[in-house]
Amino acid sequence: MIKAKSTVLIGLQYGDEGKARVMDTMLKDYQIVARFNGGANAGHTLQVGNINIALHQVPSGIFYKDMMLYIGSGCVVNPKKLLEEIKEIKSNGVKIDGRFFISGYVTLIQPHHLLFDEIYGKDIGSTKNGIGPAYADRAMRAKRSEIKNIRFADYIYNNKKFKKMVRDNLAHMEEKHGMTEVDIDKQVDEFDKSVMLIKKYLCKDPLMIESLVEKGKNIFFEGAQSVMLDVVTGATPFVTSSRTIAAAAYTGGDLSNRYHYKTIGVAKAIMSRVGNGPFISELGGEKSENYCAEEGGFAHIKEKEYADAKPEDLLASKEFFDIGKGLRMLTGEYGATTKRPRRIGMLDLVMLRQNCKLNGVDELYINKLDCLVQFNKTRLPGIPIVVGYKLDGRKIDYMPTSVDEAREVKPIIKYFPLIKEDISLFKEYDKLPAEVKGLVEFIEKFVEAKVCGIGVGPEREQFILLPA
Ligand code: IMO
Ligand code: MG
Repeated sequence: MIKAKSTVLIGLQYGDEGKARVMDTMLKDYQIVARFNGGANAGHTLQVGNINIALHQVPSGIFYKDMMLYIGSGCVVNPKKLLEEIKEIKSNGVKIDGRFFISGYVTLIQPHHLLFDEIYGKDIGSTKNGIGPAYADRAMRAKRSEIKNIRFADYIYNNKKFKKMVRDNLAHMEEKHGMTEVDIDKQVDEFDKSVMLIKKYLCKDPLMIESLVEKGKNIFFEGAQSVMLDVVTGATPFVTSSRTIAAAAYTGGDLSNRYHYKTIGVAKAIMSRVGNGPFISELGGEKSENYCAEEGGFAHIKEKEYADAKPEDLLASKEFFDIGKGLRMLTGEYGATTKRPRRIGMLDLVMLRQNCKLNGVDELYINKLDCLVQFNKTRLPGIPIVVGYKLDGRKIDYMPTSVDEAREVKPIIKYFPLIKEDISLFKEYDKLPAEVKGLVEFIEKFVEAKVCGIGVGPEREQFILLPA
């Protein structure tokens, strides 16, 4: 008889849907929080009381003092960055030693991966964390390949051999790309020191998670990135390099799927994405994509957009591009660290339905519903939402698998009644205006997944659970 439950939480759009805040409401029933994909490319700020911690690699359960934290074999780890994160956590008086474990199978992000990403990751707008090159090295295997993957456990077991390999890999990069300014000794030593300092978190037992769950510990898998960024089924090459779908929790989280209990999906009511690639419901289409990518995204950072125009004037424009820009300003859709503008789009229900179905979403949470009131300031006849696609004049109800074909898709928009009042202070679902409830019910029917909660503002308490 299975005693414990395993829950998987994923983002259903392009990342930054507010996964951590949804998760935060659920963890009290769990004893383990685990990551199964990605690395330091993930990012969110957790706020508890007056403590503010930016997390990238350490799982989100950190504020629950007895929670066990695990980084699974599907992840890639940057030792130096991880140490900085741990330092910040400890400096806030939060204990981590003794309850944090990293699978011995994880791939280490080496210095040359970061250099490689700096050069080649540009084209797709990568976060430059070396994620793609590290996963690529992992898949290369071949003994004779010039660049090699290093497992955490291997580095610890045979330090000398692998330290030399890190150096060779870096020297090779320098040679091939004429990077004379790289201080190889310094980088290799720093890397080595960092790996040795995280040695105490190494989990040598591949059965550890399985045994704990078998004994009755509940586990919560925290997805990083989101399903549209999945390396296989996302819009390649504008994706991250890991599998981000729900099922990946069991390949990258070191647990058999026999314990799967439920899948939680998180979306937001106005969509956004960073980086290039198709985005069918984007307000302003290609114009917005190019605009947001100018000077690597830095041409129109937050301050510059505010200096250029008033958001209210933009919202009153006839152009979708301007409306998108105004919405970005009023809903704060800028990179948390870089301040780069995120591309803005209408809620796309065709995409949401496909992603709910393929991931078996049992519970759907929608953040930023309060932001829809901004459409009151536009001249549009209602809240625009995508309810269908057209391709070559024909209606289709799925996202094409060809990325180039996806770029040809035109959204079919349905206008929903405007939400007349500010809903950010509401606490109970039943008391919300009829327009909100009508919209939520429509979404539920359309995507065939139960909406269980909605976000009506950024604060912890601005989150409403729906009646069961
Ligand atoms: P969280 O976990 C949003 C995007 C990058 C880029 C592409 C590839 O906070 O939701 P990578 O560095 O992974 O090679 O970049 O994926 N990307 C994200 N976008 N949220 C994230 O994580 C992301 N992680 C990667 O911007 O377009
Ligand atoms: Mg993020």
